[in-house]
Amino acid sequence: MGFDEDINVRDRKVEHIDIVLKESPEYHISTWFEYVYLIHNSLPELSIDDIDTHLDLFGSRFEYPILIDSMTGGGENTDKINRALAELAYKYQVPISCGSQKAYLKYPELGYTYRVMRDVSKDLFIIGNIGGQDIRNNPKEVVDKIVSLIEADALAIHLNPLQELTQPEGDRDFRGVIDAIVEVVDYLDIPIIVKETGAGMSYEVAKSLEAAGVSAINVSGAGGTSWSAVEVLRSRRRFPEHLGIGDIYWDWGIPTAASIIETVNSVDIPVIASGGIRSGLDIVKSIVLGAEMAGLASPFLKALSKGIDYLDKYMESLIMQVKVGMLLTGSKDLKSLKEARYVLLGPLKEWVVQRGVWSG
Ligand SMILES: Cc1cc2nc3c(=O)[nH]c(=O)nc-3n(C[C@H](O)[C@H](O)[C@H](O)COP(=O)(O)O)c2cc1C
Repeated sequence: MGFDEDINVRDRKVEHIDIVLKESPEYHISTWFEYVYLIHNSLPELSIDDIDTHLDLFGSRFEYPILIDSMTGGGENTDKINRALAELAYKYQVPISCGSQKAYLKYPELGYTYRVMRDVSKDLFIIGNIGGQDIRNNPKEVVDKIVSLIEADALAIHLNPLQELTQPEGDRDFRGVIDAIVEVVDYLDIPIIVKETGAGMSYEVAKSLEAAGVSAINVSGAGGTSWSAVEVLRSRRRFPEHLGIGDIYWDWGIPTAASIIETVNSVDIPVIASGGIRSGLDIVKSIVLGAEMAGLASPFLKALSKGIDYLDKYMESLIMQVKVGMLLTGSKDLKSLKEARYVLLGPLKEWVVQRGVWSG
């Protein structure tokens, strides 16, 4: 039997989750946030209780600049994950995205694994999710189905050529994606967010997406979950000696901090930071660099795997970490955090100077 003749999109999702939980398929390179130094304020004249973390985005108010980023739906038990994460998002009044809804298009009986999120509350801000390649045929019909299933407040279209190319059964042809995005932007009247899945976005891509009319981008840069690594580890479960494209491209991508600076300084649409965001300090640094908010994917999945109580404590701690960073930069709200002073060092500085996206 060929490698993946027996693997379908629903089994693959379950396997991806298992690999992320058991094998931590992360980049060996970092996000480069360690090269962003925030200037410490010893005289902030603020109380931690007065720190205001709320933001207004996509016509909604969110209490914290935290996005529970796209992961699941479409496989066994993914309804339980989506429900737990949606309940967390609702409790803390933050937005949440479901995982790719491709499985629903193929297996409509799996719709409930996504719909459970909307069942948590009609007021939860839910972002739908589909691949750029998956909307090339009949874009209107596809987005109608997935948006109506969860009554989505926004739609994320993901770009993942790295993952597809390292996946034995993945796509090899990426033509026609930008035209499909333009068609969806013109057709839907909810915000369209285009996201990467961990390899980062350059300013050239961000500009094309802005010209296409998208409402926001989510850079999902390198330094966190590596989809190349996920696919290598998946292949090794079948062929232990496997050496493939994914080994070579394990660390391919634009580190998250570089991707944020590239994009925020090149487009006028909101930028969401993600990819290897692992602490409230990473969130604070993302906002100082110019992002509106930051998304985390695998950390929420890992926290949930330790139980609902742990997941809640994880969120509480993340929020406190954000507030501490705001206080130590003397920032009473997110607007003043954006003005906080910082210094860039090392490879990150070299990158943004060479790319002409930062003037200091
Ligand atoms: C288990 C898992 C499943 C994911 N599935 C999707 C998906 O279906 N659609 C998508 O756009 N991104 C998906 N992602 C990518 C994340 O949204 C995010 O871009 C990436 O994992 C980097 O963030 P992290 O380092 O915080 O995990 C998935 C991530 C994980 C961990």
